[in-house]
Amino acid sequence: MPGEGAPRADVVFVGEGPGADEDASGRPFVGKAGRLLTDIITKGMQRERESVFIANVVKCRPPGNRNPTPDETAACIGYLHRQLEILSPKVVCALGKVSAHHLLGTDLSMTRLRGGSHAWRSIPVVPTWHPAYLLRNPGAKRQTWEDIQRVMEIAARP
Ligand code: URA
Repeated sequence: MPGEGAPRADVVFVGEGPGADEDASGRPFVGKAGRLLTDIITKGMQRERESVFIANVVKCRPPGNRNPTPDETAACIGYLHRQLEILSPKVVCALGKVSAHHLLGTDLSMTRLRGGSHAWRSIPVVPTWHPAYLLRNPGAKRQTWEDIQRVMEIAARP
């Protein structure tokens, strides 16, 4: 499940990996968390979901929805890097810690990473809570909205 979106997307969202719904449909973020991501893009950013690109660190669903193992991410990370090189977006929004950790080469907590200034190669990276985390912790949505506003600010730069 490689991802989907605009070939000239200025904004790329990077999640962790497909869940059962994504695995079944071959599309990223189409389950419950996916509907929240769609709302963030359409209601929050006031953009079409098709105007951004949505990808994941791992391209296949880990059995039982467990976190991907280091060898699984190692097998997929080159694909994501190539996607980012080709898309060359203005900004990447890292959804959750698996994504942030792999893009930023760190294992700091999301609390530490959020709000900081980060980049993958020279592309700005804005880490925020994974939508699945937001479903469990709706109180964190306000912080994600702050992060998304930063994404919009960077995307609006000439
Ligand atoms: N969670 C992810 O990290 N990616 C998806 O595509 C769906 C759910």
